[in-house]
Amino acid sequence: MHLESLRVLRTELATAKASTAEERLVSDPLQSRLAIVTGGSRGIGFAIADKLAELGAEVVITARNQDELDNAATQMRKSGGKCDGIRCDVSSLSDVQQFSGNLGRRLGALKILINNAGVGGFSAPLHETDPETWDNILNTNLRGVYYMMRAFAPTLIANGGGDIVNISSLAGKNALPNGAAYAASKWGLNGLSYSAAEELRGRNIRVTVVCPGSVNTDLSPHQGKSVNRMLQPADVAHVVAMVVTQASQSFASEILLRPTQKP
Ligand SMILES: NC(=O)c1ccc[n+]([C@@H]2O[C@H](COP(=O)([O-])OP(=O)(O)OC[C@H]3O[C@@H](n4cnc5c(N)ncnc54)[C@H](OP(=O)(O)O)[C@@H]3O)[C@@H](O)[C@H]2O)c1
Repeated sequence: MHLESLRVLRTELATAKASTAEERLVSDPLQSRLAIVTGGSRGIGFAIADKLAELGAEVVITARNQDELDNAATQMRKSGGKCDGIRCDVSSLSDVQQFSGNLGRRLGALKILINNAGVGGFSAPLHETDPETWDNILNTNLRGVYYMMRAFAPTLIANGGGDIVNISSLAGKNALPNGAAYAASKWGLNGLSYSAAEELRGRNIRVTVVCPGSVNTDLSPHQGKSVNRMLQPADVAHVVAMVVTQASQSFASEILLRPTQKP
């Protein structure tokens, strides 16, 4: 049987079995929760969104390309998930404000914000990096997270708390020759996340930073690496699912995710 058909069947069986409210909570722990996943049209973001939908969340994915968003959302809906794709460039303040306004009353259910959208840049030393490339990387990977948190942290506070998960990188913990702007964006993202976590934990909001090593996606350089040993997008999604389903008193604030064997 085709893998997708199996997933649909599994979802139908789980729903049929979970007849009481308590049973549904076990099979769909994120039911009635709205989750936003930036950069959810492909790669790691798609895997995270798909996982959250599988756990019962209503998911809104964003990216710049609306066609890719539509395809991704359709794919998730076919698997039984609730998903919409809404265009939003996280590096544009007006886009983020418009996106937030468009969600309107749905924001009353917002409990999860995954800041995943990001761009790479791994091919030149810093002194050969042009200012446009620097701006694109920093404005997406760092400023974009600030815009999103500025827009949605007040909603999470109003909703009594929730989770913000920022997808950083091991490049935010280590030196990355030929990727200095990318590394700077992720080191910055870690500092932003640790600080905002302290600002928001008293409001029942966990700001978690997830730092994966190389993941098998379009963004990552594959040259000289064994794809089978690389982390897969589903591995990051698994970690995010663990984070957002922790008991309310537990806060895994930072997770470093490495491949078991160096690829
Ligand atoms: N792959 C790795 O090895 C690896 C390792 C560690 C951390 N990460 C981090 O994981 C995150 C996801 O990476 P990935 O590997 O899944 O990359 P990917 O496959 O290239 O996907 C990137 C996603 O972000 C979206 N995006 C890019 N710029 C955007 C913007 N300005 N506004 C809104 N959406 C934007 C893209 O859609 P559009 O192009 O349509 O906007 C796409 O949906 C990034 O933050 C990356 O730094 C990746």
